Formats: sequence, C-alpha cells, structure tokens
Amino acid sequence: MTADERHPEWIVDPHTPNIARMYDYYLGGKDHFAADRAAAERVLQAIPYAPEFARSNRRFLSRAVTHLAALGIRQFVDIGSGLPSQENTHEVAQRAAPDARVVYVDRDPVVLAHARALLARDDNTTVIQADLREPDRILGHPELTAQIDFSRPVAILLLAILHFLPDDENPAAVVETLRSHLAPGSFLVLSHVHAGEVPDDLQREVRGAYGKTAAGDIIPRTPAEIGAFFTRTKLHQPGLVPVESWNPEAAPYVPRLTKAGLLGAIGEVV
Ligand SMILES: C[S@@+](CC[C@H](N)C(=O)[O-])C[C@H]1O[C@@H](n2cnc3c(N)ncnc32)[C@H](O)[C@@H]1O
Repeated sequence: MTADERHPEWIVDPHTPNIARMYDYYLGGKDHFAADRAAAERVLQAIPYAPEFARSNRRFLSRAVTHLAALGIRQFVDIGSGLPSQENTHEVAQRAAPDARVVYVDRDPVVLAHARALLARDDNTTVIQADLREPDRILGHPELTAQIDFSRPVAILLLAILHFLPDDENPAAVVETLRSHLAPGSFLVLSHVHAGEVPDDLQREVRGAYGKTAAGDIIPRTPAEIGAFFTRTKLHQPGLVPVESWNPEAAPYVPRLTKAGLLGAIGEVV
C-alpha cells in the first residue's frame, strides 16, 4: 500500500489498523477494533513476547518520571502519549509532586478523544493534537506554552514513537530541535524499538503489519543509532539499556540483545 492509498491518521477509520490501538491490545486494554487485533496478532505471530516489552515500556515511563520528579522536575511534555493506560505520566508525576505540570501530545484523534476525557481533569494537565514531525509547532503551541515554561527545566518524553519516523523524515533533526529548546537541567526520555537478532523474514512480517497503519512502517534501529539521539545530553545511570532493565540504582552492564525489544535512556541537557 502506498502512502497515498493509506488513510491519514486523522480520519477515525475502524477498518485500518492503528498503532495506538494495536499497542493498547498488547497492553491488554479494550480500545481496539478487529483490524487492530488482526494486525497485532500478525506481529505476535512473529514476536510472541511483544506484549512483555510494551508492559516493560510502561514501567520504564513510570520509573523515569518518578526519578525525574525526585530530581525536582515539575514540567513534563509527553509526545506520542498513546491511549490512556495505567500509570499515565500525570498520575505518576503528580503523585510524586502534586504541582507537576504535564502536556500530552499526540496526532491521533482517537487518542485525543480518550485523553481529553480521561487525562485532562485538572488545571495542570493539558492534551494537544500535534505531529512530532513538526517540532516547532509543538514547542510554540499556545496551550503548551500556557502550561510549560521553557526557561526552567522540562522533561520531554519520546517513548515508543521515534521508530515511526523513517530516516527520510530526519528524526535526529526533530530530536535536536526539541533538545535545543530546553534549558540546562532539562531531560530527554526516550525509548525505541531494536530488532535484536530477530531473523529478517520475521522483521518483514512485523513491518508488513505496521505498513497497513497510517504510520506506514516501524523502523527498528541499532543501539548505536538509538544512542545517537542523545547527542549533547549526559546519560543518567544505567545508560541506554533494555527498558525492563532501566533502574537508576543498578550498576551499568552490557546486555546481550538477542531478543527484540525497546531500549530506553534518560539524557540530561548540559
Ligand atoms: C506505541 S504508542 C506509545 C504510547 C506511549 N508513549 C508509551 O510509550 O507507552 C505510539 C503513539 O505515538 C503516536 N504517534 C506516532 N507518530 C506520531 C507523530 N508523528 N506525531 C505525534 N504522535 C505520533 C501514536 O498516535 C501513538 O499514540
């Protein structure tokens, strides 16, 4: 299917699989249609343990936000926030620091509808519709700038989203635009799919399933490529590791990446 033939994501189409609803299916949620389940099952045929790394990614979110709140961060921008799940960013942040401000950003209208209903119930939490590929628009969005003061430290979360940007959409430049807007002492929190040693034919199956979504693909990157997104930041312990192993108390180690999964890290803007 070519990009022109695919439904754009802003049309709510239950017959076209959708990445947020597929992810909800992996997480055991209930916001998905038959087309989402069929595409997700195709992924599960190739990578049966995909739900484990989706759940681990959510735990990484919770640990990372708790860690940053303990360091005094009170402003969070969660880009590609997805359908509301358990332990959403504002719940974790505001449990640790009741005055924490959170802006959720997603381009998917289904996500937006659910998020506005379930997440934005207090004055410190805002949901906006915007596309990561237009970072300047995100940074200048009036509802975001009403909530977030970029002269003070901010944590930008990019969890399980950058692998939907192919190289020709220049994800490194997108991250750099976001990072360069941040004051020293701010943070980038990022997780990204890697393919481990999964055989090419199984990788093609997974990419074929995501090829039917509006995103058009999922692009696994190597640890070195994912690490390069942290240019001009200082990684906090334990560095870039599988999300299930991210624990600031743990000693650094070099994991063997045989299985596919998500690598995550926290980089401090210096
Ligand atoms: C797999 S979900 C991840 C949800 C959450 N960040 C997490 O890690 O649990 C990816 C989300 O990114 C959103 N997304 C994908 N590409 C995007 C883009 N270019 N701009 C904004 N949101 C995007 C999708 O709509 C989806 O909600």
